[in-house]
Amino acid sequence: MDNLIQYSYVVAAALFIFGLKQLGSPATARRGNMVSALGMLLAVIAALLDQGIVEFQWIALGIAIGAVIGAAAARLVQMTAMPEMVALFNGFGGMASLLVGWAALVPGSATFTLVTIVLSILIGGVTFTGSMIAYGKLSERIGSGAVLFSGQQVVNSLIVLGILAGAVMFCLQPENHTWLYLVVILSLVFGVMVVIPIGGADMPVVISLLNSYSGLAACAAGFAVNNNILIVAGALVGASGIILTQIMCKAMNRSLANVLFSGFGSGKVETTVVEGEIKPIVAEDAYYILEAATNIAIIPGYGMAVAQAQHVVKELAQLLEKNGAEVSFGIHPVAGRMPGHMNVLLAEADVPYDQLLEMDDINPRMENMDVAIVIGANDVVNPAAREIESSPIYGMPVINVDKARTVFVLKRSMASGFAGIENPLFYKDNTRMLFGDAKESIGNLIREFS
Ligand code: TAP
Repeated sequence: MDNLIQYSYVVAAALFIFGLKQLGSPATARRGNMVSALGMLLAVIAALLDQGIVEFQWIALGIAIGAVIGAAAARLVQMTAMPEMVALFNGFGGMASLLVGWAALVPGSATFTLVTIVLSILIGGVTFTGSMIAYGKLSERIGSGAVLFSGQQVVNSLIVLGILAGAVMFCLQPENHTWLYLVVILSLVFGVMVVIPIGGADMPVVISLLNSYSGLAACAAGFAVNNNILIVAGALVGASGIILTQIMCKAMNRSLANVLFSGFGSGKVETTVVEGEIKPIVAEDAYYILEAATNIAIIPGYGMAVAQAQHVVKELAQLLEKNGAEVSFGIHPVAGRMPGHMNVLLAEADVPYDQLLEMDDINPRMENMDVAIVIGANDVVNPAAREIESSPIYGMPVINVDKARTVFVLKRSMASGFAGIENPLFYKDNTRMLFGDAKESIGNLIREFS
């Protein structure tokens, strides 16, 4: 039996890794999700048998309640609120590790076990409250601004010292639970302290980092309860979370330290003075230009998600193709508000994957594009990142839509995007602004075609 359990763990670990690999491409991502979920089911069953647990009724009840809440939440959540939901998931993962670590404490535990218990409580606690604050900021249930006060560093240093002292004393005197309680409380407080000074705008990066922490907490809990598959799963989550965090920082041309320790753009003041004039266009006139175009790039951004315009975008792309044009979609790595945001939306509308080009693939082709249609994107197509050294986003890689012959920008107003800065693209000679809700504007274009 014991061998069977260990083999099941190996198979589950392999399924996690295959699943992760398949999640790397939109074409196989769905299957990757199923494969990983299967691995998790196998891991849970094997772990329960491993513990020799005979009373399953409470576990079954827990699974039933959790499944109902999870399924309802996943069905009800808006696509734009997905990062908030991930924040909650991470937080609960952290809390679970905290509780598992705590429960692993038995009289006579070895020092190594005590250390892993402290780690799972510490990282789990920070992840729990940090994620709750991230959730609150993203959903605007609490103010999303960075909370800074004088003496903050001193307070944080004292908390860290308190955690360290509590952890050491706990390992020396595990029978005195006061030290453990101190670590639990200070870890929870520290989670709040590390996330409050970060602005709501940077929360997606923070959430990805907390995702990584939740993996590390699970890994530590795995050591505490001596369960190999929990160690493996935790390590995979920890590593993939940190890789994703790195990818997001790179796509914004910012270091992780800059995200964590500075209010966004606080070092640089927006001094961009944009010259040129805004040239609005109406759908009827835009139609004539699109009708004559043979190479068209569509660049979606956060506004496409807000307008839920993905289905009409697909319809328009099909009409353009029927008209003889070649249509490709340019996907910026941080377009929208979460990694893969645009890919998920376009996949939902069944846009063929081979039409999606990453930024580095579409940029060299931009000069050959007759029209670039920007749908609710702003920062990720801002040429200031290339042209204006004083811009807060200078150096961020962007999709160079301004190199296309004509650019249509679909948005509702002249409002700025997430970074809160001016966009010189809107004032360029070859840019035409098609004002209005993206779904409505595209609907009008579709009507012109039919
Ligand atoms: P943004 O720069 O945020 O611009 C979105 C634009 O969509 C806005 O200017 C808005 O203008 C327009 N919009 C909103 N609702 C609309 C509607 N119903 N119809 C038409 N337009 C609408 O978006 P982006 O270009 O996708 O850039 C993403 C930003 O988020 C970047 O700065 C990136 O660094 C940041 N960020 C992304 C991530 C990830 S992982 N994706 C993580 C952290 C930060 P109007 O209000 O005038 O309509």
